Amino acid sequence: PRILFVSSEVFPLAKTGGLADVSSALPAALSCLGADVRVMLPGYSQALDLAGCLDVVSGCELPDGRLLMGRLPDSGVPIILFDAPALFAREGGIYQDSDRKDWPDNDHRFAAFCRAAAFVALGRTTLGWRPQIVHANDWHTGMISAFLHFSGQIRPKTVFTIHNLAFQGNFPLTAFSNLGLPSEALSPEGIEFYNQISFIKAAIRYSDRLTTVSPTYAREILTPEHGCGLDGLLRARAADLTGILNGVDYDVWDPANDTELPCPYSHDDLAGKDDCKASLRHEMGLSQAVGAPLIGYVNRLTHQKMADVVLDVVPRIVANGAQIVVHGKGDRAFEERFESVARAHPDNVAVRLGYTEALAHRIVGGCDLSLTPARFEPCGLTTMYAMRYGALPVTRAVGGLVDTVEDAGTVNADDDLGSGFAFARATVDDMEDSLIRASSWYHDSDAWKRLQRRAMLRDFGWKRSAQRYLELYAALLGGAPPRFD
Ligand code: ADP
Ligand code: GLC
Repeated sequence: PRILFVSSEVFPLAKTGGLADVSSALPAALSCLGADVRVMLPGYSQALDLAGCLDVVSGCELPDGRLLMGRLPDSGVPIILFDAPALFAREGGIYQDSDRKDWPDNDHRFAAFCRAAAFVALGRTTLGWRPQIVHANDWHTGMISAFLHFSGQIRPKTVFTIHNLAFQGNFPLTAFSNLGLPSEALSPEGIEFYNQISFIKAAIRYSDRLTTVSPTYAREILTPEHGCGLDGLLRARAADLTGILNGVDYDVWDPANDTELPCPYSHDDLAGKDDCKASLRHEMGLSQAVGAPLIGYVNRLTHQKMADVVLDVVPRIVANGAQIVVHGKGDRAFEERFESVARAHPDNVAVRLGYTEALAHRIVGGCDLSLTPARFEPCGLTTMYAMRYGALPVTRAVGGLVDTVEDAGTVNADDDLGSGFAFARATVDDMEDSLIRASSWYHDSDAWKRLQRRAMLRDFGWKRSAQRYLELYAALLGGAPPRFD
């Protein structure tokens, strides 16, 4: 099928989290399976710089900008950038300014992007290509399905993937007039949501099919606890909602050929991992304490990722003889508290605020354990990466983490099961208990090696999930299910 895959983040051109990784790896996997997929994203300045050679699509009468065509650096998947300098060529982040305030015109920016995607979808460009499916992702692309629904034209089928229901793209009702939608859309049956307009609600309401990034999260968002106010609508659409687990791009995340690591290693030769650990401790200024497990926490420092609880656990981690490296960016108050806890424990706690792709690789390469807790987690790619790197996850049994991490139990049990450690409640005590359990595994070196090997051998490659998406597209197009050999 011909698929227009639309996302506000695509690795390596623009990234703030896992959405970017999915938006490069899934299209690449679909294209390996024979799909004709093109990825559309906003023309942020940094994306234009990184994309290299781009061709202008001339003769398109887009209201707010123009289209540029190129290819993704590694996979060669075709990309379409929506170049609208007044909206996207800015100093600062892709959603926020340098003071970390949301851009005040985010409704305008992403509505214009959605309008441009709808143009491409309806074949109203000179690209000479018209998709059969538009696959949109997260709130930034939510208006596409509404624009197509109300276009009055023959339109492609629409699939919308929820990567995070907590980010909704809600704006004051006054933003409605800019959308150019008929007034009937401004009702609770349309895109109105608690006296605002909601981009994500538009997508949930008007897309033909909905997916999310793990089976467990697909069930959870039907409940008031995890439905973020949209569980009622989602329950009404439950027959059209599927959970398809994300995959891992092992071309990017594999310790055997990760060029960011000082030493490569793999499940059958872990010697290089010790060197990665020593080098990471050196880089971070931590002591080379013999026998101390090294924990990594690479994350957005937010309430979702339980940064508050991690902060309370850090002194206990140190008291229990372990060390921790933190790399992240997020709420200012959490950032300040992390810096102060690092100052209090300079030999055992290292904090680097910021967002650095290479450092994220060196940390997962050098750590024994990856702390990846969450209050809710649609999928949780970091946890899957951690398993491949033998940096065993210590995480919470919620959302996609339930579908990816199997708890190893206690070290004395003689069964050889598990790939990490999962706790139930979002509390300091539960997190600490899991870390203590993980440490006792770590100190039993034979058991630890077996556990590491099991985790490293888990296969979360994209192929299976990409096949599920192709089946979904085929069902939507009314064709025969695809055959995979
Ligand atoms: P989410 O998308 O909710 O942030 P995921 O675990 O699915 O969670 O994906 C997070 C992605 O962002 C991973 O690729 C991870 O390596 C990356 N990441 C998170 N924080 C940082 C950081 N401070 N520096 C570099 N990469 C980061
Ligand atoms: C979101 C979710 C995360 C998921 C990622 C990619 O950012 O928070 O759980 O892995 O999207 O789908």
